[in-house]
Amino acid sequence: METVHVFAMAGSLRKRSYNRALLCAASEMLPDDMTMDIFDLAPLPLFNVDLEAQGVPESVQDFHERMDAADALLIATPEYNWSVPGVLKNAIDWASRPMVDGRPSPLDSAPLAIIGGAGRLGGVRAQDHLRQIVLHNDMRVLNKPHYMLPSIWNHFDDDLNLVDEDARVRLAQVLIALRDWTRQLQHFA
Ligand SMILES: Cc1cc2nc3c(=O)[nH]c(=O)nc-3n(C[C@H](O)[C@H](O)[C@H](O)COP(=O)(O)O)c2cc1C
Repeated sequence: METVHVFAMAGSLRKRSYNRALLCAASEMLPDDMTMDIFDLAPLPLFNVDLEAQGVPESVQDFHERMDAADALLIATPEYNWSVPGVLKNAIDWASRPMVDGRPSPLDSAPLAIIGGAGRLGGVRAQDHLRQIVLHNDMRVLNKPHYMLPSIWNHFDDDLNLVDEDARVRLAQVLIALRDWTRQLQHFA
């Protein structure tokens, strides 16, 4: 079977972001037939059609190309005010646009798994909003298993290692489900 390459991003710019740490944990527990590229959203400017008209910024081209090289996407989102953080919505706005060479958005029909953690409810409202947002590009969102970490800070040690064994086992299950979902979609494409 072909390797499944995943493009991953976290909706947080914080140095000590737990959601980015979750992606790092995922990248360390990948099965042999998966690879992962974690993209830091910090270099992306705020979306502006004028900027696009002047020539798509290099950071956005890099973002598009790395995403386009992937077979599937993985997004770890915190919840801000019952929704996704603006930085993640901004990244999706950029990603939803066609590429510089005119090829369609790398989001179009792409398989996606959503994970994350936040406060008391683990970011369930943000994840629901994210599902609505990505419908625009007809993304193929993995429905199960769900993955939310309530009070996400309680699942990591001081060095941002995911130390909750149950959270680790469930994260590995999401990765395998994303791999299988991606292959299923490739098979029927
Ligand atoms: C502006 C702001 C709004 C927040 N709103 C919510 C919220 O609505 N629901 C929630 O569960 N947590 C909320 N939180 C908590 C964050 O989701 C939590 O701190 C999370 O760890 C941030 O993600 P990060 O560690 O990856 O940066 C909020 C935090 C901030 C800074």
